Amino acid sequence: MVVAIDGPAGAGKSTVARAVAERLGFAYLDTGAMYRAVAVAVLARGGPPAARARELEVVGAARYLVGGHDVTAGIRSPEAAAEASRIATDQSLRDALVERQRAVLATGDWVAEGRDIGTVVVPDAALKVYLVASPEERAARRARELGTDPQTVLADQTLRDEQDRRREHSPLRAAEDAVELDTTGLTIDEVVEEVVVLTGEPHG
Ligand code: DC
Repeated sequence: MVVAIDGPAGAGKSTVARAVAERLGFAYLDTGAMYRAVAVAVLARGGPPAARARELEVVGAARYLVGGHDVTAGIRSPEAAAEASRIATDQSLRDALVERQRAVLATGDWVAEGRDIGTVVVPDAALKVYLVASPEERAARRARELGTDPQTVLADQTLRDEQDRRREHSPLRAAEDAVELDTTGLTIDEVVEEVVVLTGEPHG
């Protein structure tokens, strides 16, 4: 079974997806981290993103190697986020990563988060959730996490969302059968509870 969680930057996808996975005893897949890891490698060494993607190794739950180099420490920086959004417009990169994501998600129970899980990666996911929140609240959350200024985060986030929504291939959008959840003003626990209930799993 796959629970797909999509939405724009800072909507709470990672925190919520991780907590839902833990509650249900499912594994958790962070597809944004895969784009970010490739982005760090492209910034460091250049080359076509799809070629770097073929060198990507995910070790355990959260370590990322590209061509044998551990890029994990760099993936959360604003530069990695901006570059990930830029290279994510490249269809051959997306093909390479989506193929790997589908292979992983084909076995076992997963909560997977990203931008195109419900629309492209797993269109027959058992549950699709599309998380949204006001731009100001999303920026404030990210700024707290990064310890930086909300105005700068808001400017970067607006650019990235525009790029993710407007791209030709797999743009950020809710699947038609996704449940849209506005997390503005909600606590993480409230959102997690709502998603767990939506899965219909008994042990939530
Ligand atoms: O979720 P995130 O902020 O870690 O994602 C970083 C960037 O990667 C995001 O701006 C667009 C891209 N991305 C994507 O195109 N498709 C995904 N499934 C996940 C992320």
